[in-house]
Amino acid sequence: MSKLWGGRFEKATDHMVDDFHSSISFDQRLYEADISGSIAHATMLGECKIIDRADADRIVEGLKGILQDAREGKLQFSIDAEDIHMNVEQILTERIGEAGKRLHTGRSRNDQVALDARIFVKSGIRQTQALLCDLMQVVLGIARANLLTVMPGYTHLQKAQPVTLAHHMMAWFEMLRRDHERLGDAYRRADFMPLGSGALAGTTYPLDRAQVAQLLGFEGITRNSLDGVSDRDFVLEYLSGASISMMHLSRMCEELILWSSHEFGFVVMDDGFATGSSIMPQKKNPDVAELIRGKTGRVYGDLMGLLTMMKGLPLAYNKDMQEDKEALFDAHDTWTKCLLVFTHMLDTVSFNAEAMERGAAGGFTNATDLADYLVKKGMPFREAHEVSGKMVLACVKNRCALLDMSLLEMQAYSPMFEQDVFEEISILACVKNRNIPGGPAPDAVQVAIDQGDAFLKDCAQ
Ligand code: ARG
Repeated sequence: MSKLWGGRFEKATDHMVDDFHSSISFDQRLYEADISGSIAHATMLGECKIIDRADADRIVEGLKGILQDAREGKLQFSIDAEDIHMNVEQILTERIGEAGKRLHTGRSRNDQVALDARIFVKSGIRQTQALLCDLMQVVLGIARANLLTVMPGYTHLQKAQPVTLAHHMMAWFEMLRRDHERLGDAYRRADFMPLGSGALAGTTYPLDRAQVAQLLGFEGITRNSLDGVSDRDFVLEYLSGASISMMHLSRMCEELILWSSHEFGFVVMDDGFATGSSIMPQKKNPDVAELIRGKTGRVYGDLMGLLTMMKGLPLAYNKDMQEDKEALFDAHDTWTKCLLVFTHMLDTVSFNAEAMERGAAGGFTNATDLADYLVKKGMPFREAHEVSGKMVLACVKNRCALLDMSLLEMQAYSPMFEQDVFEEISILACVKNRNIPGGPAPDAVQVAIDQGDAFLKDCAQ
């Protein structure tokens, strides 16, 4: 088959090269973006009288038919036509004849592919933002139901101070909210329309770039033709947003994996989201959570691959950039799938409040509160820290908890101890007393939940 660019060639492309440089096997996924971009371009060409209005109408009608057939899976793409852009153009010309050959007036595949990628990223962002909102809803639901479910908080994976499950969930919520906002920020920079950049140096035709931007729902047009075709920051930003979000999902999965171990026993995974062992009959493994943790590396790989591919490229377009698409699609597919599965998995997890409470009561998580008690009675904090530490050491030796000591035993460490100490260092009091904005006290967490609710309502509008 003759090439759309075949004019200056005397010899056919080696069949090995056809196969090697063709991108249709993966970029056919951009057909929707590509055809809508072409419809807008042709409409503008007609209205600006750069081509005949009748030709423009024929092109638009032809493209609409191709779009319909593509959606129904009826199109046959060919590697001879190299990529989605030339496949669509070739099919168009086969269908409508001469007029089809006028579509590419004032345009290059370089600005065309930049446009398609931007359209894909913009829609990817809206899709992942919606998935993040669904997940945030589930997280909020768990938080609402567990304002008083005390659990141990950790540093260094050693029990530190008591918190509540609601507070822990709202920490997850914040991570997810940032992912959402980061995407919104990336969207603003992806929202510039590059057509009119041409191959690299714009075009001699008086294109109405603003009209094309408006037809395609872009906020504005790219400001420099060289940059318009060679910029892939918007893909990189999407992939870094994906990587950070996957890192969050991975940390959440790691917690669910830990919590579902026999040693923690804080959660039980739903049977639908766990798997068994082919040899050990008792096993129930958190495979789904592990796989999400594992796939995080894959999305980082997509980001690293693209950053590395871009790092040595001189302006403007270079064929290396064709490699952006598989990374983009893979990261998008992996991320959206992980978000969806994680949301359903979390929605079906059951929490064992008793085990969490038991966990919070062990490990001297109220030792800071014991020191704070003495501070309130007038002792300097450093001294109180020392007293509390000595009492913990005695308890470790006697294998008991601070609350197991009698008042008399406590008073041997400081005469400041009074009967009210038992109430003040009860685990629930430890949580309730941390009533500071951003803290774990039920009142403070309720405020965070209300703010979370408002955020999700805003997003839904
Ligand atoms: N398939 C190409 C890509 O994905 C389209 C642009 C080709 N441009 C060129 N000058 N070879 O990057």
